Amino acid sequence: MDPLVGAASAAIPPSVPTSAAPLGAASAAIPPSVPTPAAPVGAAGRHPASAAIPPLSPRVIPNITDHHFPSSTGLPRIPLTDHRSPAMPFHDFTLIQAPMAGGINTTELTVGAARAGALASIGAGYLSGTALEAAVTAARQGGAEALAVNLFIPGEPGATEAQWRAAREALAPCYDAAGVDLPDSFAELPGFDEQFDAMLEARPAFFSFTFGRLDKARRDACRARGIALIGTATNRAEARDQAEDGVDAIVLQGEEAGGHRGSVETRGAGQPLAALLEACGDLDRPLIAAGGLMDGADMARVLGLGAAAAQLGTAFLSCPEAGTAPAWRQALAAAGPDATVMTAAVSGRYARGLANAWMDERAPREIAPYPDQHRLTAPLRKAAGAEWKSLWAGTGAHRSRVLPVEELAAALLEECRAAG
Ligand SMILES: Cc1cc2nc3c(=O)[nH]c(=O)nc-3n(C[C@H](O)[C@H](O)[C@H](O)COP(=O)(O)O)c2cc1C
Repeated sequence: MDPLVGAASAAIPPSVPTSAAPLGAASAAIPPSVPTPAAPVGAAGRHPASAAIPPLSPRVIPNITDHHFPSSTGLPRIPLTDHRSPAMPFHDFTLIQAPMAGGINTTELTVGAARAGALASIGAGYLSGTALEAAVTAARQGGAEALAVNLFIPGEPGATEAQWRAAREALAPCYDAAGVDLPDSFAELPGFDEQFDAMLEARPAFFSFTFGRLDKARRDACRARGIALIGTATNRAEARDQAEDGVDAIVLQGEEAGGHRGSVETRGAGQPLAALLEACGDLDRPLIAAGGLMDGADMARVLGLGAAAAQLGTAFLSCPEAGTAPAWRQALAAAGPDATVMTAAVSGRYARGLANAWMDERAPREIAPYPDQHRLTAPLRKAAGAEWKSLWAGTGAHRSRVLPVEELAAALLEECRAAG
């Protein structure tokens, strides 16, 4: 969870040890913000399918075929198998409610999305192992049986002492401007080992991950428990790597997407979603389109470009059930068409959000590598008003609808069917 944003978000446990915080690696001095290009359009569609696999087998990766599986809604299903439950081999997962760490994916949000027929995700990237298990249990008790739990793959080495000091000093005027005290110490993030083990224990139908590849031992551990894998890619090379690793589906995250870019490189170039779908159309894996999709017509368009399903994040931020802070909701309601910008100043990794102090001349120039910058800015984002919060949102923010989650998810599926 992200201590920065949330009304309904739980705080990072104050002293959970981190599993990966070595010293090293210089962070390139880059301008903190990047303007947003618009999206072109691209290519062809297919809906491969996977076979039902018995649970708890060490070999549960499905064979991808070219079969179509029309669903009860009349929309194509994402061919993701709930490996744990051969009795329910396929779900109608045309729509995925995106994982959004930072307390956005409340139990109410996931349960409502699941009720309407979407695959509900829990963004657990900032949760301790205990909190992760509690979140899964609560969602299940609410009736969301098939869930995708999402974690961040650790990769970047931590900041050197010099980088940490420079980034902290550069943040002093920001804390000052917001009237927030600059702390001497900053909360650690939960360790990946602890999170991953808790995820295995919780045994969700799907484990989705971002910021890199999952190592073979962990992939095998998931397969042994019948947990299907969903990797994330922001370009063809990353998507090919995920396909080589044998994931069950790949989220293709276009540069329109809200939140952190799910690339291996913390500051890698993005690509418009349509171009990304076109570039990856020949990969032998179901593709999940993400980025800037706000209604069912958008979903139908990406299904037509070859996606097996659509993953929407920003569209769900304005649902009353989401853990979105009031200031964030207000900013979403007021957003115009060009309201979002990329910045690395918040966390050390590129992310897209509604423009505020993090994206202009008030932002710090010295930025610690991800995730240390995230730790350094967390107390400011938590205590300050909208100007210094991270207001993550995609390019479709200005098309947000304020609807109960179940109503929104049902409308999205209906609109998609009508447009398809
Ligand atoms: C507030 C917010 C938090 C996010 N957190 C995560 C996350 O924890 N893990 C992840 O894989 N993607 C995360 N994302 C990205 C989404 O999963 C998805 O790719 C993105 O929302 C799609 O673009 P859209 O916001 O334009 O719909 C986040 C997005 C937002 C807006």
